[in-house]
Amino acid sequence: MIFLKTGEEIEIMDEANRIVHKVLDALGESLVPGATTLELDRIAENMTLKEGAEPAFKNYHGYPASLCVSINDEVVHGIPSGKRTIREGDIVSVDFGVLYKGYYGDAARTYAVGKVTGEAARLIDVTRESLKKGVEQAVDGNRISDISKAVEGYVLDNGFSVVKDYVGHGIGKNLHEDPQVPNFTKDDGGYPIRAGMVLAIEPMVNAGCSDVTVDRDGWTVRTRDGANSAHFEYSVAVTADGPRILGVRS
Ligand code: MF3
Ligand code: CO
Repeated sequence: MIFLKTGEEIEIMDEANRIVHKVLDALGESLVPGATTLELDRIAENMTLKEGAEPAFKNYHGYPASLCVSINDEVVHGIPSGKRTIREGDIVSVDFGVLYKGYYGDAARTYAVGKVTGEAARLIDVTRESLKKGVEQAVDGNRISDISKAVEGYVLDNGFSVVKDYVGHGIGKNLHEDPQVPNFTKDDGGYPIRAGMVLAIEPMVNAGCSDVTVDRDGWTVRTRDGANSAHFEYSVAVTADGPRILGVRS
């Protein structure tokens, strides 16, 4: 079931995502060697409550924290811990969502901590740029597969791979709504994109091969080959004037 949003709903979702991006900005400042991932979780949760919103991921399907922090070969859903310390040279993916006035916001970024390898820096740049390529295709009259194709094409051209076990999604009164937004092309034509859709587009890109495994904690997704992974996500409204990235001043 796909829910198209009114202009008013999109404005509320813009506010929700504004809070998400404010938190992600603050986390970027806090990502210093020696910080624990639990400290980051606390910062995210406290800021969110102060803004009059709720963390979206806490207790979602039993997820035990507010923030997902995935380091190096971890792809997504890394659980914050007081025992996990950020180190110089890490690449750290932070994924965060809030519920605000009945609507969800969801976004993610990968940060480099201090000096990282050239490949890690390029992985981050390519993943960020692949998201932009996907966003450009979030246009009324296109198909979801146009987003998928743009993301995957850019990633493969740059010698990296896209994760296939996890996908982007519609978002609104629910964190995850139809349609799914894969970062790879399938042979079906792909669902038609319409104005009023809000899509969470979120390429997860691996430096090595696309296979992933899930840790025994039931959550942490990591690359099978141990290579680095990066993740960027925007919630994007499809409007009559084209794609609008929510929570970010254009
Ligand atoms: N941010 C993830 C997404 O983009 C959701 C996190 S799942 C959770 O879909 F369980 F960790 F909340
Ligand atoms: Co998402």
